[in-house]
Amino acid sequence: MSVVPSTGNGKVTVPSILERKSGVSSQNSSPAKITCLTAYDYPTARLLDEAGVDVLLVGDSLGMVVLGYESTLPVTVEEMLHCTRAVRRGTRHALLVADMPYGSYHDDPAAAVRHAVRFVKEAGAEAVKIEGGESRMDLIARIVDAEIPVMGHIGLTPQSVNAFGGFRVQGKTTEAGEQILRDARAVEAAGAFSIVLESIPRELAARITAELRIPTIGIGAGPDCDGQVLVIHDLLGLSFGHKPKFARRYADVGEIISRAAAEYCRDVQQGSFPSDEESYHVRAEKVGSLFAQRK
Ligand code: KIV
Repeated sequence: MSVVPSTGNGKVTVPSILERKSGVSSQNSSPAKITCLTAYDYPTARLLDEAGVDVLLVGDSLGMVVLGYESTLPVTVEEMLHCTRAVRRGTRHALLVADMPYGSYHDDPAAAVRHAVRFVKEAGAEAVKIEGGESRMDLIARIVDAEIPVMGHIGLTPQSVNAFGGFRVQGKTTEAGEQILRDARAVEAAGAFSIVLESIPRELAARITAELRIPTIGIGAGPDCDGQVLVIHDLLGLSFGHKPKFARRYADVGEIISRAAAEYCRDVQQGSFPSDEESYHVRAEKVGSLFAQRK
């Protein structure tokens, strides 16, 4: 499998994402906001890529929206690699970023670098995403040093769900906001090329966006970030349970699937599926000999 994405023809790259930082455009106008969506399989990746999404993120959110876990914590490196390969095959223009799952970068830094290398070498990712701020500085720098671009992720980092006591908006007090600001600075200083800001007050996200030189990509962080990311299942109406207020639903694909499946069951039970036109046939003159041989 070729894991080297061809450049040119509008291919989104790490340098082209850096150029999309607000206020960095050569024309003195604001560059277009960065669009990012999650993808976990080949057909979704193809559709999103062809629709012009800039960044496809194989998020460990797949644990919740695809595999049905209660959190992202059980997701393994092998599961992430499997999905990243499928997304790679469907992606031509977008930048492909893979999430490092919980446990893959939390103990031995050398093992963390080896895991990051697998995403690039075996699955065709062009960058990896790592949750955490100040405490991940050295690790981010090591992975960047191994020629792997890193997207940071701070604020509500879902892998910290137990430490946070649930999926809660972060950075609402002065101290918590200041810590998130320090985290953002640390991620940038460590060499990350962009940073996800998840579920923090709009005002804090705007402050971080104004201060950092790398683009911020918000999810539940208001409209002032340099880009936005959503989980594709939320956008399509394919997720169950609590719906955060930032997760705007652009389609109700869940309803379409339910209706189609119910219609299919009805047609099979009523004998109207498959029809004669949907069946294969032998030529009329062969029917006799076909049954004759059976006797
Ligand atoms: O796992 C994921 O999908 C993410 C995004 C929500 C940023 O981390």
